[in-house]
Amino acid sequence: MPNAGWWEALWPDPAGVLAGVGVKPNMTVIDLCSGDGWFTLQIAKLARHVVAIDIDANLLEVARHRLRESNATNCDFVVGDAYELTRLWPHPVDFVFLANAFHGVPDRERLARSVHDALAPAGLFAVVNWHQRPREQTRILGEPRGPRTELRMSPDQTIEAVEAGALKLIRVIEVPPYHYGAVFER
Ligand SMILES: C[S@@+](CC[C@H](N)C(=O)[O-])C[C@H]1O[C@@H](n2cnc3c(N)ncnc32)[C@H](O)[C@@H]1O
Repeated sequence: MPNAGWWEALWPDPAGVLAGVGVKPNMTVIDLCSGDGWFTLQIAKLARHVVAIDIDANLLEVARHRLRESNATNCDFVVGDAYELTRLWPHPVDFVFLANAFHGVPDRERLARSVHDALAPAGLFAVVNWHQRPREQTRILGEPRGPRTELRMSPDQTIEAVEAGALKLIRVIEVPPYHYGAVFER
């Protein structure tokens, strides 16, 4: 998990990212691999309910603290492995949001299937990824940031991996300066 200073500089408008991928007020949303809750808080402000899921209990505690400080009560926090979504949250959801994590998933088709099974019919899955640019070129506050160059995925690679899990692409958006968002439907 990156430290907050440059993360805040990179994401000055997390609510705008969420609106861009289609999170809406009436939705129940899973923030998958939620980390310290940077996006979770904004989802809580925008949507009906958010479930933050992460394998790292310490980061989830930071997220819990962040949301409590903002008086957000429409949220749950679940420690666990993203491959086991339906066991971790056995209620169909309208939206699964996954930011800055897909490049590190060893079995992406398995993850996509897990998301598929967690979604209600016509539910949406958004993957927000770093563009496949050399790390040296993705500079924030004067330093190269983000995953190693060789881990980064193009939109086409992301689409192929997610569609292998039986989800269908509906659109790709730009998330400047260094990201894209791919949105899929069950
Ligand atoms: C770079 S952080 C991104 C956090 C957050 N999505 C954001 O964009 O601010 C990646 C997160 O994925 C989590 N993670 C890694 N493998 C996981 C797994 N198998 N299941 C659930 N979470 C996982 C890590 O603990 C970490 O919090």
